[in-house]
Amino acid sequence: MNPNEARKQVLLVCSSTDGQTLKICERLRRVLQRAGHSVRLTMIEDAGAVDPGAYRLVVVGARIRYGRTDARVIEFANRHAAVLDAMPSAYFSVNIVARKPAKDRAGTNPYVRDFLRRVAWQPKQVDVFAGRLDYPRYGTLDRLIIRGIMWLTGGPTQPDAVVEFTDWQRVEAFGRALCEAVPAGDTATPVVEGGARAA
Ligand SMILES: Cc1cc2nc3c(=O)[nH]c(=O)nc-3n(C[C@H](O)[C@H](O)[C@H](O)COP(=O)(O)O)c2cc1C
Repeated sequence: MNPNEARKQVLLVCSSTDGQTLKICERLRRVLQRAGHSVRLTMIEDAGAVDPGAYRLVVVGARIRYGRTDARVIEFANRHAAVLDAMPSAYFSVNIVARKPAKDRAGTNPYVRDFLRRVAWQPKQVDVFAGRLDYPRYGTLDRLIIRGIMWLTGGPTQPDAVVEFTDWQRVEAFGRALCEAVPAGDTATPVVEGGARAA
């Protein structure tokens, strides 16, 4: 095992294409660090060699694109299901459907329910956050399709619209709940890491 892994308390695994899920993970990292926990934030593409069992809490955050959670997240969840189920673990999804009050909770968001049906892992804490709409950032086809979906569902359709739907107070509350879930241990020396990307 990588000795750096053993010294960290919380593992945050992130799947993000346009950056909003990463921004949410970075906020959660700050909340955990403020409470004295050391955090390793790693992107799902770099998580192949990560040993979740080396941590006291594992949190997975994943964006939705075209109705799908990243296949690598599902593979990670299934590969490590037994280890994750035996320890504190949490999952959250980031999608645009969650901007709707009727679909903004773990129990009412279709992507969360679909994810939990598709994995053997049963995370102890589950949440969902609304993401960001950023038409100028998208390619022509993606922009056309997403605008069509927004038109159908009553969302913003102006071609240059950029809207962050994320409720940061809810993200902070989730972060505080994660702090409560980290079991106390004998190596709990606070390690505060800086930098935007995973250590
Ligand atoms: C190409 C594309 C497809 C998307 N498909 C969906 C979708 O099927 N359902 C949904 O709720 N949100 C969808 N979204 C919205 C994203 O989930 C949202 O923008 C989120 O913030 C993306 O997270 P990321 O910035 O971490 O990649 C889509 C966004 C894009 C750009």
